[in-house]
Amino acid sequence: MLSEASLLIAACICTANATQYLQSRSFRIGVDTDTGALLSIVHPKDNASMSWISGPDNTPWQPLGSRWGLGCVDLGPLHRSFWQRPEIRVTDTTMSAAYTLDGLQIDVTRTVKNEDDVMEECFAFTNTGNESLTLDAEGAESFAIYTPFNDHYTSTTDVLENRAHAHVWANGGASSWVKLTRMGLRGPHLGLVLTEGGLQGYSIEGRSRVTLSNTRGVFLLHPNMPTLESGETRRVCWEMFWHEDWDEFFEVAMQRSSQFLHVEADRWTSVAGEAVNLTVSGQRADEVVSDGLDFVADGTASFSTSLQTDEPGEQEITLTIGEGKNQTNSTIVLNVVPDIDKLIANRAKFIAQNQQLGTDFSDQSKAGAYAVYDNQMEDIVTFETSSDRNTGRERVGMGVLIARWLQENPDNPQIETSLRTYYDYVTNKLQEADGYVRSWPIGAARADTSLRLYNWPWVMQLHLQMAKLGDLPTTSHGNSTATPTQRLLTTVERFYSEPSAIDYYPINLPILESITYLRQTGNEEAATRLLHLFTTHGQRIAEIGAHYPSAEVNYEQSIIAPATIILLELYLSTNETSWLDAAHGHFARLEAFSGRQPDFHLHDIAIRHWDGYWFGKDRLWGDTFPHYWSTLTGIAMGYYALAIGEEGYAARAEGIFRGNLVLFDQSGRGYSSFVYPVTVDGRPGHYADPYANDQDWALAHLLAMRAWL
Ligand SMILES: *[C@@H]1O[C@H](CO)[C@@H](O)[C@H](O)[C@H]1NC(C)=O
Ligand SMILES: *[C@@H]1O[C@H](CO)[C@@H](O)[C@H](O)[C@H]1NC(C)=O
Ligand SMILES: *[C@@H]1O[C@H](CO)[C@@H](O)[C@H](O)[C@H]1NC(C)=O
Ligand SMILES: *[C@@H]1O[C@H](CO)[C@@H](O)[C@H](O)[C@H]1NC(C)=O
Ligand SMILES: *[C@@H]1O[C@H](CO)[C@@H](O)[C@H](O)[C@H]1NC(C)=O
Ligand SMILES: *[C@@H]1O[C@H](CO)[C@@H](O)[C@H](O)[C@H]1NC(C)=O
Ligand SMILES: *[C@@H]1O[C@H](CO)[C@@H](O)[C@H](O)[C@H]1NC(C)=O
Repeated sequence: MLSEASLLIAACICTANATQYLQSRSFRIGVDTDTGALLSIVHPKDNASMSWISGPDNTPWQPLGSRWGLGCVDLGPLHRSFWQRPEIRVTDTTMSAAYTLDGLQIDVTRTVKNEDDVMEECFAFTNTGNESLTLDAEGAESFAIYTPFNDHYTSTTDVLENRAHAHVWANGGASSWVKLTRMGLRGPHLGLVLTEGGLQGYSIEGRSRVTLSNTRGVFLLHPNMPTLESGETRRVCWEMFWHEDWDEFFEVAMQRSSQFLHVEADRWTSVAGEAVNLTVSGQRADEVVSDGLDFVADGTASFSTSLQTDEPGEQEITLTIGEGKNQTNSTIVLNVVPDIDKLIANRAKFIAQNQQLGTDFSDQSKAGAYAVYDNQMEDIVTFETSSDRNTGRERVGMGVLIARWLQENPDNPQIETSLRTYYDYVTNKLQEADGYVRSWPIGAARADTSLRLYNWPWVMQLHLQMAKLGDLPTTSHGNSTATPTQRLLTTVERFYSEPSAIDYYPINLPILESITYLRQTGNEEAATRLLHLFTTHGQRIAEIGAHYPSAEVNYEQSIIAPATIILLELYLSTNETSWLDAAHGHFARLEAFSGRQPDFHLHDIAIRHWDGYWFGKDRLWGDTFPHYWSTLTGIAMGYYALAIGEEGYAARAEGIFRGNLVLFDQSGRGYSSFVYPVTVDGRPGHYADPYANDQDWALAHLLAMRAWL
């Protein structure tokens, strides 16, 4: 055995840096014979030959040490050790790589099996020292296996064929899994399910100002293996398999893994007092026990229970199977929130009382504005100099929320006074007399008048809500008097006078609501005019189809979402089926950003991973689950439910709005995003960023969709 291994090492030295392949009828896997890492995983029949993992051919910015299957472990003070130099053995269908660290042996084995079209990958950890080893002394991040999923936004053309959304469920203990979906939706897609051992979260590395928002970074999975006794061996194993859709993914995961549990809930965020119904299926679902829950066979192969939620807060539920050495624990995560109307009322009050700069504020370019608030400093942030923290742009969402809220809650004179002060601010400082919308307020130290079309629909939204709130004329720029309705029309006209507007994918363009409002108030002529402008824009989006232009990110949920929503709003405004026909493909590509993890942070919440940096106090890159623009998927699902008459999408829309409520607390504070991973480039995550910035769009959307759902 030893001599055979040394012969092979000798062979590998001769072919250092060579790639060898494990092959079956459904896998072709590139192995770096130098490090034992995987360089590529391809389906041999895929005409695009896409690799589902990051490697030298598709991810040149990936460091060598973070290739698939390498990893690191903390073996004591200043003994963080990386496994990188194995004794390796590769055949056509199997490989083994043995890494020897000081006191820990890591044996990695991989096998492709023709008979069941799977790849099995196992990591066996043996304590070779004479003392017990604590592997997660510094927390879950002490111990990690690199699994660089190929989730990057290079260009639309590239991502649709060659990149995959990674829906990662690594906080599930024994029932952990990853579903990858090719961004262009062509199957089969690759899945991964744990078959032995457990996980306790994932981290992200490799995010920076250089790669910006366009890569999701490198993933690290954290084994749940706190200690190893001297001589003890424990394993983490998973299988990878192909599937066409979510149903098939869960079905195969269930067949391949006896510890996998598929959990469905009728809601992942409940309002205190509501019941949550859970359904569990899996090979051993009949054995599931959980504190205080009674699972009942529901006639199919699954088991159901109903749990009453009362106290607001996150609720982790452990599902236990088996006993003794055979016992496994799996985790699911629910959220319980206070009464939603009360939560929104508290938020509206908090903004009016704590987040508005007085009209006498020394810097007149900010006086009267709603501004970013630091929940740690407990004060308004006036010192920030970057555009995503200024008093324009996304912050207009605070005004839109309050204007929507006041329509349902009219007797709040102090809040209304605050809003009217803010409206004056927007019409005088953020918008010029001809309707041009500024990114930086007039009079700001940074005299920036550059065009950012994103900002415009937000100002349109504010005018529309002020119109619905009484349509009182106001005066701006000394002598320019107009009603909010007139300002809405001016803003839309001025928007489309910009040559680039027609090729733009703006968030929140108020098509359906403007047209409905204008028709209801007898303003047919204006409705027709706006419909004409929006139609021209919609036709362009329909023509462009899946050839999305890049925006502030090369490819992202909030490009596909506006394409979908604009077309659906045109359909609902006209009943012309060509709009719906054009929307289906966009809707499917949008839905692919949403996963089905049994955790309210993640379930149906679209993948987004850069706004912690741009909008948060702590400037962390990395997955934001949730980030409030995920509610755009909720809007699209809500409209889609109306358009095609599928109630299920309305329920999912509601679930997305509710998932975002974790960004608000009972006292009315807001948090710009929840940075989900265990760590991001070594900095601790899994918390809500302390800046209240632009999250109020989530609540504004929730209120907006009440009119339709
Ligand atoms: C692969 O085949 C599909 C049809 O099955 C086609 O739509 C796609 O463009 C092809 N891709 C390449 C890279 O040839
Ligand atoms: C472990 O081995 C070291 C040296 O090999 C020795 O000094 C130590 O006493 C041993 N510890 C135990 C717990 O046996
Ligand atoms: C939830 O479960 C309870 C008790 O089993 C049942 O009465 C109720 O109808 C269920 N609700 C839904 C929405 O399925
Ligand atoms: C564990 O499971 C195996 C196979 O299912 C069974 O033979 C064994 O008795 C079980 N051990 C314990 C401690 O439950
Ligand atoms: C499973 O969870 C229970 C309760 O939280 C705990 O007592 C038990 O030790 C856990 N079992 C394993 C194998 O982790
Ligand atoms: C408003 O004032 C501006 C600049 O002071 C002037 O150019 C414009 O003609 C005035 N408009 C009206 C309607 O008085
Ligand atoms: C579209 O059709 C539906 C169902 O017939 C109807 O309720 C709705 O008013 C129509 N909308 C428009 C804009 O014509």
